[in-house]
Amino acid sequence: MSRVADLLFANRVWKSVFRHGYPSNPRNRAEVMFQNVFLHIQSVKVFKRSLKVSATFGLGLILAYLFLLLTLTGFLLMFYYVPEVHRAYADMKDLEFAVSFGVVLRNMHRWAAHAMVLFTFLHMARVFFTGAYKAPREFNWVIGIILLIITLFLSLSGYLLPWDQLAYWAITIVSNLIRTTPPADIMGAGASYLVLGGTQIGQNTLIRFYVMHVFGLPAICGLLMVVHFWRIRKDGGLARPDESNIPLR
Ligand code: HEM
Repeated sequence: MSRVADLLFANRVWKSVFRHGYPSNPRNRAEVMFQNVFLHIQSVKVFKRSLKVSATFGLGLILAYLFLLLTLTGFLLMFYYVPEVHRAYADMKDLEFAVSFGVVLRNMHRWAAHAMVLFTFLHMARVFFTGAYKAPREFNWVIGIILLIITLFLSLSGYLLPWDQLAYWAITIVSNLIRTTPPADIMGAGASYLVLGGTQIGQNTLIRFYVMHVFGLPAICGLLMVVHFWRIRKDGGLARPDESNIPLR
């Protein structure tokens, strides 16, 4: 190793953070992945076929990045938006016309949300058409379905927050649907009461949707994404043709 590399990597501070040596041999290259909390989610060895763009089209990863982008832009939007019926609409207008780069922030959040719904369906189609939902990956398919439902509920709950006419009437329709669609129809008016926090849309509805949108649903989504990724590793990596020799785990 050169003197500069020695100076950078062969000192106590560097070694207190990175326990492995310089990744110049296969063992150290593997240790880089094992010993890093952010990288250890990646497999040290992958099948050559899984690296081809056409194996996944990167659709799952695009979804993970969209979720990160939505979390970041959503976090910044929370500095300006107050979930109060007399303020919510005005706050959205302020974001559009008064806050520096507010309109960029809001549109990044909105377009990323639309893209997430679109890419979830594309990813699902890729998994379906490559038969990747079959054993031993049925459980991950079910986790995926729950992720799809949560993604749709995240979109719906976000739709109410601008508190405009579109939002108001969309939630009116949804709460009526919930009241009349099985299995929630057993609860009758109780079902829409649960969603609206009353008999009609108002402050109680806004705060319920807000809490679910900024905390409840993203927390469940993030947790399930971790399980989804972990499960890909446990199922023997990405699906590929003829896996008859892979034992069920
Ligand atoms: C928030 C939504 C989701 C995220 C972030 C996500 C992420 C991922 C990632 C990163 C992969 C690795 C390979 C790839 O890029 O395709 C993957 C694989 C997989 N996903 Fe998803 N996914 C999501 C939703 C879904 C949905 C809706 C389904 C199906 C209902 C699903 C079922 C699967 C299955 C079965 C695999 C394994 C595929 C294989 O082995 O080839 N996922 N997912």
